[in-house]
Amino acid sequence: MSISLKGRDFLTLKDFTKEEIEYLLDLSAKLKYKKKNGIPMDELKGKNVVLIFEKTSTRTRCSFEVGAFDLGMHATYLDPSCSQIGKKESIADTARVLSRIYDGIEYRGFEQTIVEELAKYSDVPIWNGLTNEYHPTQMLADMLTIREQLGDLEGKKLTYMGDARYNMGNSYMIACSKMGMHFTACAPKKYFPSPELVAQCEEYCKLSGGSIRLTEDVNEGTKGADIICTDVWVSMGEPEEVWQERIDDLTPYRVTMDVMKNAGEKAIFLHCLPSYHDLKTKIGKEIGEKFGLEEMEVTDEVFESSYSRVFEEAENRMHTIKAVMAATLGAFENEQV
Ligand code: CP
Ligand code: NVA
Repeated sequence: MSISLKGRDFLTLKDFTKEEIEYLLDLSAKLKYKKKNGIPMDELKGKNVVLIFEKTSTRTRCSFEVGAFDLGMHATYLDPSCSQIGKKESIADTARVLSRIYDGIEYRGFEQTIVEELAKYSDVPIWNGLTNEYHPTQMLADMLTIREQLGDLEGKKLTYMGDARYNMGNSYMIACSKMGMHFTACAPKKYFPSPELVAQCEEYCKLSGGSIRLTEDVNEGTKGADIICTDVWVSMGEPEEVWQERIDDLTPYRVTMDVMKNAGEKAIFLHCLPSYHDLKTKIGKEIGEKFGLEEMEVTDEVFESSYSRVFEEAENRMHTIKAVMAATLGAFENEQV
């Protein structure tokens, strides 16, 4: 079956079929091979993309920029302070202006409704670089990493520990249910994903053979898992006041060596990064000192252990983001992926 994603937006994996996600992963692997072997891939020479960041970033910004350059494109970076977006100009007007100048638009920021509004008014593809609700480009990187490290995605058991109702938890549940994987959210009940999203993902599972489990029990939730993953306890844009409550609630769900030993024999650890696995960051140090912690969502021991594939995962951000831009801008359509 031939797949074309030309002209499509990339807002959440909910909008994509299993076959389309597989197509993007295959294209990512192909582009990664080309990059490693110095094979030119500048099929989109002469095109331009704009990257809107209303929240900070290292991986996502660099991946969009390098991805664009490798494909032969130019990229403009707009940071939160240097554009009119949202302050002097509406999202609808911004979309209509930028889509006359650029061939594709990336947006990182707050509500999903913003990226949906951009897509509604834009004539060119919109790429979600993270919203409060979803982080779909991160999912492609994680799925590519799992495929490389463990083989097929289908049937793999993935356990997410921590705040499972925010962008990373939601996105893992969607990705797993689309790809026929077994997803477990291991967290206190109040951090479970919304019943509406769970119901939607249960429907995807009926098609894919995947499953969803929500549990508060760490031993049961991590037993035999192929992938253990987590994320920061407090996300970008959340108020500082929530730290105390998150620490109280989520400390029992920290990824420790005991968790990894309880997981499957070949289990791997993933984290989208950045991570508070030690006190070597400004915020990590401040919070650590204030609340008497040495590490937060994952121990330094696990982060630095042979279970950890976080840097392979980080590298894959670039290859997968490049594939999203290439596919939605119509590149490599005639190549066998
Ligand atoms: N994982 C991720 O999105 O990293 P950045 O915030 O650095 O882009
Ligand atoms: N949940 C985190 C993910 C960072 C990549 C955040 O939104 O800050």
